[in-house]
Amino acid sequence: MSQFLITRTLSEEATDAALRADVLRGLTRRPKALPPKWFYDAHGSGLFEMITELPEYYPARAENDLLIATAPDIAAATGARTLIELGSGSSQKTAHLLDALPSLDTYIPIDVSESALTQAGHTLTRERPALNVHALIADFTTGLAIPGAPGPRLFAFLGSTIGNFPPVERAAFLYSIRALLEPGDCLLLGTDLVKDEEALVAAYDDAAGVTAAFNKNLLSVLNQSLDADFDLDAFDHVARWDPANEWVEMLLRSRTDQSVKIPAVGLTVDFAAGEDLRTGISAKFRMQGIRRELTLAGMELTRWWTAGPVYGLALAQPIDAQIITPRPYGPRRSPTDTGTS
Ligand code: SAH
Ligand code: TRP
Repeated sequence: MSQFLITRTLSEEATDAALRADVLRGLTRRPKALPPKWFYDAHGSGLFEMITELPEYYPARAENDLLIATAPDIAAATGARTLIELGSGSSQKTAHLLDALPSLDTYIPIDVSESALTQAGHTLTRERPALNVHALIADFTTGLAIPGAPGPRLFAFLGSTIGNFPPVERAAFLYSIRALLEPGDCLLLGTDLVKDEEALVAAYDDAAGVTAAFNKNLLSVLNQSLDADFDLDAFDHVARWDPANEWVEMLLRSRTDQSVKIPAVGLTVDFAAGEDLRTGISAKFRMQGIRRELTLAGMELTRWWTAGPVYGLALAQPIDAQIITPRPYGPRRSPTDTGTS
């Protein structure tokens, strides 16, 4: 008998307090910046689903095709009985994995978006009567308490969401995942790869304007949750490739000199004409870099699958289980760290 359970680990009060803190910090610093998790209210999650169907947004198709092709290999390499997915969204691509894992008992999708989790959970359990689905409404950046479930466990982090962390947060995040891994557990990481600028920028600045609407939805979230008075038409969506950092940067650029009130946090924010609010990055990767970052976080890259030079799926397992735990941050060398070559 399958069951669908949804657990809220974030109270609405805590979420509201976190949003206020991020807004206070982010809109009083220079350059102005907000973290990307606030894109995903119900409307934002719907817009993201539309992004995944855009002709320009190749990462979703590339990852989907790669998952179809590699699911049997992933199943054989992991033997997973539990699949834990961070930032699972609609779980659409994950379905290929669920169906390929012969011993799968439990699926634990984790997301900040309650609407995405509810929809995905109902669809999945309806179609898979033998599967236990235990969804968690949780923030994967603030320490996860994973419900008990049979091992081996496969952690999946798809959609190249890893690219939305700045490098320092990315290292801390990978380390926090490593800390969750028990012997026999694995991490499956979806990573978009460095490619030509034109294709990269188009994926984040589509002709239909869906990504622009998604980016501006952040302002709607502030209007709704904090009673702010952002005029969405007074900002332009900008996506630009930063070749030194190898990431696409998403910005909202003020069209005019303007003042925005955010009464819930007692803030009036001035924007100069042309001033940017940074709303997110999407870092692009190379296999060597992924291997190095995994190693620094105490994991070993064991498999690497690519769809040509477009998109990569990395499978990693924990190394040195006994000696890693004491040092939470910072680079560390281990006998299997072969460096950057
Ligand atoms: N994995 C899906 C969705 C990727 S979009 C896919 O590949 O299509 C990123 C997802 O991560 C969204 O569903 C968003 O709600 C979720 N998310 C973003 N920041 C988060 C955070 N800090 N904690 C938990 N989920 C988060
Ligand atoms: N993980 C997705 C990516 O980096 C998220 C994303 C898609 C995104 N389009 C966006 C984030 C536009 C901010 C703005 O591709």
